[in-house]
Amino acid sequence: MTLSNQKSTIVNPQSTISKIGIIGAGTMGSGIAQVASTAGCVVKLFDLNQAALDKAEASLEKIMTRLVEKGRVTSEEKKRIQDNISYVNSLKELADSHMTIEAIVENLDIKKKVFQELESYVSDDCIIASNTSSLSIASIASSLENPNRCVGIHFFNPAPLMKLVEVIPAIQTSYEVLEESIDTISSWKKVVAVAKDTPGFIVNRVARPFYGEALRIYEEGIANFSTIDHAMKSLGGFRMGPFELMDFIGNDVNYTVTETVFTAFYFDPRYKPSFTQKRFSEAGYLGRKSGVGYYEYDHNGKKVENSDVATSTIDATVTEQIFNRVLVMLINEAADALFLNIASAEDIDSAMTKGVNYPKGLLAWADEKGMDWCVEKLDTLYDEYREDRYRCSPMLRRMNRANKTFFNK
Ligand code: NAI
Repeated sequence: MTLSNQKSTIVNPQSTISKIGIIGAGTMGSGIAQVASTAGCVVKLFDLNQAALDKAEASLEKIMTRLVEKGRVTSEEKKRIQDNISYVNSLKELADSHMTIEAIVENLDIKKKVFQELESYVSDDCIIASNTSSLSIASIASSLENPNRCVGIHFFNPAPLMKLVEVIPAIQTSYEVLEESIDTISSWKKVVAVAKDTPGFIVNRVARPFYGEALRIYEEGIANFSTIDHAMKSLGGFRMGPFELMDFIGNDVNYTVTETVFTAFYFDPRYKPSFTQKRFSEAGYLGRKSGVGYYEYDHNGKKVENSDVATSTIDATVTEQIFNRVLVMLINEAADALFLNIASAEDIDSAMTKGVNYPKGLLAWADEKGMDWCVEKLDTLYDEYREDRYRCSPMLRRMNRANKTFFNK
């Protein structure tokens, strides 16, 4: 392939996708640009806002300098990666892209307008992808004259560090576009999980109980934030407890995702948001970024140790009950995603370990605990509360009846 931009050699010469256009130079767009450039692609990063472009360029300089200092990349490599990205302020400049990935504001109307304009510039075989977290790919694709070229390519934050990318074909997406997208993203050294075009795709759907059930346990007065966090970390091996993680993500952001998923699922009680989180968000107790959330943070964003935490005196039985309850709700969600063909068992498990750093895949965890354990725990919760939220997935019941496991047998 002849490249108009002679700044670099392409690392992956077999790939036909070597010129990447990225729309939106915010958190995600600038991270994706770094990933694509590191993989050897020629990248054009577009934003309407010059300040966003300047910030993206300056922040990449900082990141790359740090990587050189740590010995992770050479100075030549740093130069190549930075030189490979041009910062452009006109969408037209993306005309020669083989693939574009949009990462602008999460607003369907704005995305549709940008996609329509973009389609008028790019060639007929350019793949047009969106990094949306919560909008339907089918609806975004419908804005194009050729919707078959549209696909969801969903990175996780921070894009250069998180291994997982969900690839989401819309009902309009052609098989070739899906295949090419998977090949391209895999060649960028990412782990691809293919997900159905449904709310939350894999990760943002399956992870909901980690927050929702923890909040519910708190609301019932069973335990305080730190005890619940302690249970999930010490018994489950999660790197962060649910409340620490919500503080890290931001209560405003996390609450909005929950509310969006709940609405998109036609108010299925399994995804019901929590008043606790709503009030924290309304109060401006957003977490680490505002200095206070479920915990307090110092000016460096470091958690101020809470005096009410006396982990050594926490009742072991209560801790185990908390962990089991959150875990079984997560397993139920993963099993139900499989039941509804959202993704394969392998992709559901790798999505959770590579997208949100879970210590184990949830279906593998179900195998370990036993299907009978999962069904019994869920039925006990359902009997106690009589809420649809605790209904056991038919997938778990079937597996239990057939004495099957997800992976081993
Ligand atoms: P951001 O707010 O950091 O960046 C958005 C950028 O898009 C801004 O620089 C803005 O100037 C630019 N922009 C807005 N409208 C534009 C337009 N019409 N044309 C060109 N540029 C425009 O947002 P962030 O967090 O990077 O999110 C972008 C997308 O990625 C959203 O769809 C979001 O749902 C999705 N996403 C976000 C994740 C996160 O953790 N922040 C994770 C995965 C996906």
